[in-house]
Amino acid sequence: MSEPQGSSIPRHVAIIMDGNGRWAKSHGLPRTAGHRKGMETVREIVRAASDIGVGYLTLFAFSSENWRRPETEVTDLLGLLKLFIRRDLAELHRDNVRIRVIGDRRNLRGDILPLLLEAEETTRDNTGLTLVIAFNYGARDELVRAVTSLAGEVAAGRLKPDEITSELIDSRLDTVGIPDPDLIIRTSGEERLSNFLLWQAAYSELMFVPDYWPDFDKALFCAALDRFAARERRFGGLSAQAAVGS
Ligand code: IPE
Ligand code: IPE
Ligand code: MG
Repeated sequence: MSEPQGSSIPRHVAIIMDGNGRWAKSHGLPRTAGHRKGMETVREIVRAASDIGVGYLTLFAFSSENWRRPETEVTDLLGLLKLFIRRDLAELHRDNVRIRVIGDRRNLRGDILPLLLEAEETTRDNTGLTLVIAFNYGARDELVRAVTSLAGEVAAGRLKPDEITSELIDSRLDTVGIPDPDLIIRTSGEERLSNFLLWQAAYSELMFVPDYWPDFDKALFCAALDRFAARERRFGGLSAQAAVGS
């Protein structure tokens, strides 16, 4: 298997890890088995991203809408995330991985928030891969919180409406300091963003792969990075070829 090299490696890859339930069903297993297997994929892809030299890897772990699922499944998903941090934090720290968490931190019950904060705190000075965990994350919710914070400053007279810029909005998002994703991958064949990084995805390359998340592996990840390397990004400008021809 060849790993992508050099400047064609995306600086930031974000992944919508989808299809755990369908993977389980296709194997005659309960949904929870799909989530457990999906956690193994998380380990493999974090290691791959770190080895390849991706700068930022964002994983959509739990959306602000996933609370709509049956309570048993929510408990399962939260339990697995806690287990991941408890079991893997030391190794991630050893591997120089820095953890960031995005999503609404308010009103979280139980020991999930302290664990997420511990993961951020322990790894804050690491200089390798930044692993961004999107937990209780929804892009509209993130934007509402950002707008509320700016509106508060306007109301307090500290900010004028015409001082609001794209950069100022960036600075109020959970992703402050994290570059926009170059590539967003969604597994399982679904072709939608499901409220993931809507602002930050303005110029992201989107890639939808048919494989269920538990079947996704390093080889499929490298294949996605190869496909990304062949894409031409224009950001509203002209392609290099068209510019020369004009
Ligand atoms: C992704 O798999 C896991 C999370 C949403 C946390 P799903 O549970 O959505 O699996 P499908 O889409 O039902 O197959
Ligand atoms: C998106 O997947 C959320 C995560 C991967 C955490 P969903 O399975 O919740 O999305 P929809 O409901 O199919 O759009
Ligand atoms: Mg799904």
